[in-house]
Amino acid sequence: MTKSPRTLLCALGTVLYFGSNVAAAPLDIDLDICLPFGIEVGLFIDLFDPPQVTEVVPFFATSTTAIPSAGTYTVPAGISATTVIAQQATELCVTSVTTKTTTYPCSTSTSFPTTWWDPCKSSSTSGTCQWTPPATSTPTTVTTTVTTTLTESATPCPATTTSTSTSTSTPTPTLSCDPYGYLVQYASLYRVDLSTGTTTEIASGLGQNTSINAMGYNTLDNYLYAYQSSTKTILRISADGTTVTVDTDAPPAGSYVGDIDTNGHYWVGVGAASSWAKIDLAPGSPTYGKTLAHGTATSPGYDVADWVYIPNAGEYLYAVGSIASKSETALLRFSMSTHKWETVANYGKLGVVGVGAAYGMNNGTLYASENGNGQIWQFPISGGTPFMVSQGPPSGNNDGARCVLNLLSH
Ligand SMILES: *[C@@H]1O[C@H](CO)[C@@H](O)[C@H](O)[C@H]1NC(C)=O
Ligand SMILES: *[C@@H]1O[C@H](CO)[C@@H](O)[C@H](O)[C@H]1NC(C)=O
Repeated sequence: MTKSPRTLLCALGTVLYFGSNVAAAPLDIDLDICLPFGIEVGLFIDLFDPPQVTEVVPFFATSTTAIPSAGTYTVPAGISATTVIAQQATELCVTSVTTKTTTYPCSTSTSFPTTWWDPCKSSSTSGTCQWTPPATSTPTTVTTTVTTTLTESATPCPATTTSTSTSTSTPTPTLSCDPYGYLVQYASLYRVDLSTGTTTEIASGLGQNTSINAMGYNTLDNYLYAYQSSTKTILRISADGTTVTVDTDAPPAGSYVGDIDTNGHYWVGVGAASSWAKIDLAPGSPTYGKTLAHGTATSPGYDVADWVYIPNAGEYLYAVGSIASKSETALLRFSMSTHKWETVANYGKLGVVGVGAAYGMNNGTLYASENGNGQIWQFPISGGTPFMVSQGPPSGNNDGARCVLNLLSH
């Protein structure tokens, strides 16, 4: 650990609470830390002062614009402009998105990467800033209320819009669409290097410290989401393993297969031959948290314990299925439009039965972790020959997720 001068340049990108965005502002740009050569690897910097957290609350504002006579007009609409053809003099109602920004000191423990210019070496250096509040401090609660009121007009406009965001300041760091697989086992979260099998624990005792499953990676906000059966709720999981319970419809009871497509829709279900649901987790969506579709799937004849969405392979959820009694393995896919299973390839006795964690890669690859022996296998989803890539940890009561858009394996 290295103590720093009081002035530091640190930047934090994170998202807090429903639609409001939170980010830490630079503390001071007059940074002048000079490090001797050789100590910059894994550098931690303890902050003396809390980083500033900036919260941005979006809200809708409406206004009326008079159109004096028939004709074609360009009017502002949201963040762009639109063309309006008027048949006669009229009034238009224009809705735009505006934001209100609040800044306050962070009151909870946090850490985030930072890079600064080292004057000694004439090069930039990276490290991790960390802030731990004094034991006596209490969490800051910040309430941001934004109200817009409309002026009287002949044109009916939507009523006054109010957007309120109340938050206890817990900046939860997002992931960064890195190449790793993320594995949840019971209530512990691990990072897995798929090409070497190296597995690192990030946090344990997630949520209520009861079994967590059906984990997916949301590429729209860079959080992991998973289902905790004991509370029948969806947890949002940050890069450091902190969790927030999301206010949504409940997934099917006992769900253990899950992934999130690139529209932010969480596909969650109870294996291959049972209930499934599609729940909206797209930030800012008018139907956020609602079940958009659900049903009961007909068995493909194989057991399935995780599925992955691979955008460039069509609207399917891919899974490695197995029949344990016959030691048979197959590659399957569940159509997101017809909601039926199809068999892509049957491999016979491959030695892979019981894949509890699957990770997708958008070049058409599914990485599968075999529960019993911990081997990680690569399945080309075109149906080509699968092969073992690395030795990971044996695992049970587990699920895997990955940022499918990252095409590197480590
Ligand atoms: C979670 O539960 C396990 C056993 O069920 C226990 O060993 C562990 O200490 C708990 N972790 C936390 C953080 O409470
Ligand atoms: C996808 O990328 C991985 C990692 O680089 C590679 O091992 C794999 O062969 C690629 N898959 C396809 C189908 O190109």
